Amino acid sequence: MKPELVAKAAEAREQALAPYSGFKVGAALETRDGRIYTGCNIENASYGLSICAERVALWKALSEGAREFRQMAIVSDAETLTSPCGACRQLLWEYCGDITVDLHSLKGLDARHRLSQLFPFPFDNRSL
Ligand code: THU
Repeated sequence: MKPELVAKAAEAREQALAPYSGFKVGAALETRDGRIYTGCNIENASYGLSICAERVALWKALSEGAREFRQMAIVSDAETLTSPCGACRQLLWEYCGDITVDLHSLKGLDARHRLSQLFPFPFDNRSL
């Protein structure tokens, strides 16, 4: 775990707009040169338009010009660790490569993975 990154993700989680699921998530994405971009999930009455915390952090980073990434932390307060959804795994793999992914629950659970462990056998530019 990288405590500073987890703390940033926990702080971002406080901003979550999750009135439908009640499930708040925060993410913090660190660049190779140490910049940190955060995100929270943002839900909509048209449920399918909701967006995950991981993607908000990723879009913020990419739109600010960041291109090289080292690590992401994902924080929830669930009884089990919150792992990124399939769509987020695909997007993180495309733009971040094999980053370290730290999962933390405010209930006191922690795990560290590489994205390649969470997303083996990807479809990516090598597949085209
Ligand atoms: N969610 C995330 O933001 N990140 C995850 O890793 C899992 C799910 C959000 C989407 C939705 O707003 C809520 O959690 C319940 O699925």
